[in-house]
Amino acid sequence: MATSAGQQNTGWDIVTGVGITALVVAAARAIESGRPDALIDDPLAVHFAGTAPAHVAMPTTLAEAARGGAESLAVWDHQASQLGVRTRRFDRFLQQAGEDGVTQAVILAAGLDVRAHRLDWPSGFRLFEIDQPRVLAFKDQVLAQHGAHPRCTRHPVAADLRADWPVPLVEAGFDPALPTVWLAEGLLGYLSREAEEQLIDNVHELSAPGSRIALEHLRGIPQLTLESEFRRVSLFFDVDLHELMHDEDDRRDPDITFAAHGWQVSEEHPERVAEQYGRKLDPISKAMAHHNRFVFAALG
Ligand SMILES: C[S@@+](CC[C@H](N)C(=O)[O-])C[C@H]1O[C@@H](n2cnc3c(N)ncnc32)[C@H](O)[C@@H]1O
Repeated sequence: MATSAGQQNTGWDIVTGVGITALVVAAARAIESGRPDALIDDPLAVHFAGTAPAHVAMPTTLAEAARGGAESLAVWDHQASQLGVRTRRFDRFLQQAGEDGVTQAVILAAGLDVRAHRLDWPSGFRLFEIDQPRVLAFKDQVLAQHGAHPRCTRHPVAADLRADWPVPLVEAGFDPALPTVWLAEGLLGYLSREAEEQLIDNVHELSAPGSRIALEHLRGIPQLTLESEFRRVSLFFDVDLHELMHDEDDRRDPDITFAAHGWQVSEEHPERVAEQYGRKLDPISKAMAHHNRFVFAALG
């Protein structure tokens, strides 16, 4: 696939650069939603996966994935399981915040996440979704085509998370004086060390006491990108994940940065979370899970 550093730097749509990872995630959520033991229910995911002109097939069921052969079945089974566990855990995190009285959420790199539509929110809840302009344009187009209505007040915010995104976020109505629940899922690995640190500093500056965040953190990206399971997935999708991801090995873990700002931090491991959900991870997810963890932080 044509994925170049140029696209990575200048913005992308839903089928180029890092944009296509949002489409893969949507297809995986569609597949997971159709399993008999599904961990999530994302009825809109199928519409995204079926609409975009991607260079690889985006199956929306395991049966469709199997038609592409054994490798297709193995890779999509892995994607669906991994995404099912992650999505369900972060669904619960966001809903807990709403139950605790938090009234606004910011999803950093929302991609085709439709939690605004899928989950029940307290009355008056506001949810801000930040992503690249063309990714959000595709999403809004598909949502409109299918008459999808959010269950809270949804504010798409087209911005580059490596740039001055707090300005458009505040312009969209975000109130930094109120506690916020933040989510960064499937994002940090695509940011340089500097961009990640700046993002965390921005989150801290925009967070009133009582705010909280959940992050997906890939540890040891230089080693991960060399592992056979990672290369297998990259090859299958014909996406140069190594090029899309930043692999400086001197990165500071995000929980250390949050702790330095005075946040209380904790972590969970996807494999343990999967066990709690009764999901036995497939071999690819198991291999990748060693590098992955869910980080939580709260500002008292
Ligand atoms: C793997 S997808 C995850 C999407 C979503 N969080 C989910 O789980 O469905 C990565 C997303 O990060 C977004 N992204 C990566 N870097 C970004 C940046 N610098 N500015 C805005 N969005 C970015 C991409 O456009 C894409 O939608």
